[in-house]
Amino acid sequence: METYKTLTETYQTVLSELYPPEEVKQLFLLAYEAITQKKSVELALVKLDTVPSEQEECFRHVLAQLRAGHPIQYILGEAEFYGLRLIVNKHTLIPRPETEELVAWILRDYSDAPPRSILDIGTGSGCIATALKKGLPSADISAMDISAEAIHVAQKNANNMDVSIRFLVADILEWEYVFASNEHFDIIVSNPPYITPKEQEMMHQNVLLHEPHTALFVEEHAPLLFYDTIADFGKKHLAPHGTLYFEINQYLGQETVDMLFKKGYRTVKLQSDMHGADRMIRASL
Ligand SMILES: C[S@@+](CC[C@H](N)C(=O)[O-])C[C@H]1O[C@@H](n2cnc3c(N)ncnc32)[C@H](O)[C@@H]1O
Repeated sequence: METYKTLTETYQTVLSELYPPEEVKQLFLLAYEAITQKKSVELALVKLDTVPSEQEECFRHVLAQLRAGHPIQYILGEAEFYGLRLIVNKHTLIPRPETEELVAWILRDYSDAPPRSILDIGTGSGCIATALKKGLPSADISAMDISAEAIHVAQKNANNMDVSIRFLVADILEWEYVFASNEHFDIIVSNPPYITPKEQEMMHQNVLLHEPHTALFVEEHAPLLFYDTIADFGKKHLAPHGTLYFEINQYLGQETVDMLFKKGYRTVKLQSDMHGADRMIRASL
């Protein structure tokens, strides 16, 4: 008979070679919340209770998947982003804390005068668009992705969070055929693919093996392809006084800033994330 306490010990033993003890503890708590539908703080009260057999089976299934290197968010099918619990699957990137900082920046900038319209390019799980709609309910929000499967997830997330967003399956590299010339946005935001093949070598196997490569990678010879394209798109589709927000490759901060100045953007601000890495840019014409 397993108790929650003996189960946590099993998690620590089985995962000790993959994750440090503190991370295993967090993984167990996430599994606990998803499997029992209870808050993790309640674990302390029940830790000596016997785990019901159907729950025990779920805990063991999660453990086997973790041991095989699957990210916990894909195993549980959900991820937390800006206080929202969102569905994720193999077609969507797992939202990152850096991206929450980008959302926080936009919400701070527009706390006094809400924008009328926002476009999120490469929406994935819809995390940016959904969090922005929650924070700026009066804005009309559109979100696009080249992946129909990702848009399917994003739409479900918007429905679950009770927000209305216009979703488009479309390729931003073909934007001239996607948007009418008179369509303008107060904010264009994007966290596009930005990892180069060279950087792949430094990445954790968890990411490389499980997260969608269309969400992550660009060609070595064109690392700024999406930024370049979206900057051109912005010149045609930003409303007067509109603003572009990017999450960026931390190693290409200055290059991205230079590219934006060259294209005619006049106010360009590079912003670092909580780890001090160049991670975000805000630009206007
Ligand atoms: C880095 S992920 C960001 C996902 C989500 N916005 C987030 O922050 O977690 C980039 C997204 O861009 C999408 N994407 C890749 N190429 C694209 C293209 N040519 N046009 C539109 N979206 C594209 C991918 O499918 C992926 O969902």
